[in-house]
Amino acid sequence: MSFHSMWAELLPVGRSSASGGYRRFAWTGADADCRAWFKDQAESRGLAYEVDRNGNQWAWLGDPAAGDAVVTGSHLDSVPDGGAFDGPLGVVSSFAALDELRGRGARFTRPLAIANFGDEEGARFGIACAGSRLTTGQLTAEQAHRLTDADGVTLPQAMERAGYDPSRLGPDPERLARIGAFVELHVEQGRALDLSGDAVGVASAIWPHGRWRFDFRGEANHAGTTRLVDRRDPMLPYAEAVLAARGEAERAGAVATFGKISVEPNGVNAIPSLVRAWLDSRAPDEPTLDTVVTGIEKAARGHAATYGVELAVSRESFTPVVEFEHALRDELTRILGEKAGRPVPVLGTGAGHDAGILSAAVPTAMLFVRNPTGVSHSPAEFAAEDDCVTGVTALADVLEGLACK
Ligand code: GLV
Ligand code: MN
Ligand code: MN
Repeated sequence: MSFHSMWAELLPVGRSSASGGYRRFAWTGADADCRAWFKDQAESRGLAYEVDRNGNQWAWLGDPAAGDAVVTGSHLDSVPDGGAFDGPLGVVSSFAALDELRGRGARFTRPLAIANFGDEEGARFGIACAGSRLTTGQLTAEQAHRLTDADGVTLPQAMERAGYDPSRLGPDPERLARIGAFVELHVEQGRALDLSGDAVGVASAIWPHGRWRFDFRGEANHAGTTRLVDRRDPMLPYAEAVLAARGEAERAGAVATFGKISVEPNGVNAIPSLVRAWLDSRAPDEPTLDTVVTGIEKAARGHAATYGVELAVSRESFTPVVEFEHALRDELTRILGEKAGRPVPVLGTGAGHDAGILSAAVPTAMLFVRNPTGVSHSPAEFAAEDDCVTGVTALADVLEGLACK
């Protein structure tokens, strides 16, 4: 099946007709449809299909137990109203690259696997890359069991309802020991390739990043009758924290975003009792990230005190800086550079990926495909089909160089 047909098949799955964006959240019906599609692609190619203890899907060519496997793939879930490419481009390109290699008559000397890592975006339970974090032990089974979604459904309940067994969640060192290299192809989430005029690039590093929850607790009261001086309105220090985040990030050359809030009681004519807000912040290095988040928290605490509001801050996830393994990265740039007859760009990113999580346990690398506007995590995310096909060939070249004679 061509890249075009696979892409067209997956395109309607989990798409909101209202926004045009995707709502493929972990363990929902849309996620199940994406997983069924993956299984179908694996089986129709005669690949050995399996789901690991953390719900990640695998499609194997060759004997997994032989070890030193070359693994490629990405994720199929999305952020709320995400684009079509973040995740699925890597999975569809992996199957298409295998087809291309078979068409070339490639002879594999190492096992090859295609993976779909579960719950990469953390849109439902808050933890990004939950599937790969569980596998590497960066998220423990106990922590995973305590996660709940906005409706109070726990992660184990959601898994069970989707037909998976949550009692098996946990680290998977045996599976990791089978992997010799993981290569993830991903749509670029910036404009570096557009500016350099290249369809494909290789990743150098991922900025450190984390997510923090700010609970501002005040006092619910009547919006019409409560004098301003008598209010303990948590929306006010929250608003100051948003501005502080912008200022701290600007000063440090970092980014900081309050992109999600939940308000109680959430009434148009009620002063809120609680504003719960999530901060996502990323920076070129860990000390800078620490400075930014400490600065935001300090400002938020000061403003909370001024307005008579209590503030509790908790870190929900943290991913240290990832410097992709130089030997594998250099191998990729050599393979692609030789094919292209010119050097391929090597670029860093502020976005998180399963390749970043897995890099703690196995050598990992990434390929990026040009995104002309750089927009991502939005329905406007885009890559031209010609560039996607160039990405497939680049991935096939890389896999051939790593896994074939
Ligand atoms: C995932 O795409 C992230 O960078 O948050
Ligand atoms: Mn993403
Ligand atoms: Mn992604």
